[in-house]
Amino acid sequence: MDPLAHVPGAGAPPLVGHSLQFLRDCHRLMDTRRARYGDVFRTELLGRTVVVFLTPQATREIYLDPDQVLSSEGGWSTSIGPLFRRGLMLRDFEDHHVHRQVMRQAFGRAAIAGYVEAIHTVTDRHLDALPAGPFDVYRLMKRLTLDVAAEVFAGASLGGQAETVSRAFGDAMAAALTPFRLRLPGTAFHRGMQGRRTLERVFGDLVVQRRQQAPRADLLSRLAHATTETGDVLAVDEVVDHMVFLMLAAHDTTTSTLAVLLWQLALHPDWQERVVTEVRALDGEPVTLANHTRLVDTTLAMQEALRLSPPVPFSPRVATRDVVLDGVPVPAGVAVTPASMTLHRHPDWWSDPTRFDPARFAPGRAEHTQHSHLFVPFGGGAHLCIGHHVAELVVKTVVARLLARRRLVADPDAGVVLQPVPIPRPRGPMLLTVT
Ligand code: HEM
Repeated sequence: MDPLAHVPGAGAPPLVGHSLQFLRDCHRLMDTRRARYGDVFRTELLGRTVVVFLTPQATREIYLDPDQVLSSEGGWSTSIGPLFRRGLMLRDFEDHHVHRQVMRQAFGRAAIAGYVEAIHTVTDRHLDALPAGPFDVYRLMKRLTLDVAAEVFAGASLGGQAETVSRAFGDAMAAALTPFRLRLPGTAFHRGMQGRRTLERVFGDLVVQRRQQAPRADLLSRLAHATTETGDVLAVDEVVDHMVFLMLAAHDTTTSTLAVLLWQLALHPDWQERVVTEVRALDGEPVTLANHTRLVDTTLAMQEALRLSPPVPFSPRVATRDVVLDGVPVPAGVAVTPASMTLHRHPDWWSDPTRFDPARFAPGRAEHTQHSHLFVPFGGGAHLCIGHHVAELVVKTVVARLLARRRLVADPDAGVVLQPVPIPRPRGPMLLTVT
């Protein structure tokens, strides 16, 4: 008997299931299935059945998981597992709690204040070198955020190894996203595993060095010196696992947010003007945790970019015991996921959902406040993005430094198409011009 007979949507194409459509046109796949089956349905992805939940209530129950039934490690390991193993998102329950407590020491207010200067220096370096003609905003943001990560995470200490780290990380990322996972020489997966080993070596050496020095402002130093509740530091390879995972978690997510936001601002000059007015009012002051809430319209525009293109469109989990989610029984062993990419455009909750309309988040309309878990770009519960304040600072810094000096123009007929999974990115060039 099919233990999921009560969940509609059985009968996927043989072998590939919905995986090809998932990669080709994920919005269409989700919309078609929602129209046919409602807000809870099953899909066949990468060889396994996943129950997709599109209600804010189910999203809340999955993220909060009060009885500790849903495994994030089980959900994520099939995609990013071997490359980013033992990262924070690949840990569960008590073990996750212990590591999260340690990592929080690198993400508190004082720690973040120490990252502000690095974020500004690297941003200004890239923006000073902006070309006069059209540039691909996705590619530029990718380079910029990688440099920001290198500086914030490791200080200037990567030195000559910066290029090696960048290449190794790129290989590991590409491998995490490939469906072909044979460890044969010459394959992307094999290169990715080699990349991981390179990162382990470089970060491993740095952790040992940092432990011999007085604490410094960079994130690696903070993690190297951070202690558990019992006063112990983590083993060197545990710090390394966290650093490798942090690069994954921080890089493409921030790149994607920035590219989508700048592109939308270029397409919507009225919103761009509103942002320009408030970033000019900063008068060159760096964006910090203390002043970034003054950027009211920038925040609205950023929220809207994250609503339309959430960088983490799914948060898969596997049930370790039988559980009921929003009234639907889920047997042990089954994979479930909320889907911010579809919930954020659900016509029952959002007005004109595919339109870029930041004012929907402003007081008076505040559409996102209809339910605590309707707008969830940073997830929720125990695995809530630990870097969301850092992400917000980086995004606002880049927008503020860029628009304080320049205006952006985009061609609305350029036919830019965003591929929403695994992390939103344009299918071709995403060209902007500065004026
Ligand atoms: C706009 C940028 C970002 C977005 C939208 C984002 C989104 C998310 C989401 C949705 C999750 C939870 C996934 C789940 O529950 O399955 C998550 C987890 C995480 N994020 Fe972010 N993230 C961003 C940037 C960052 C940055 C800059 C860092 C670090 C500097 C970071 C570090 C992490 C870590 C370590 C986790 C795992 C937390 C845990 O399992 O306890 N993220 N992120």
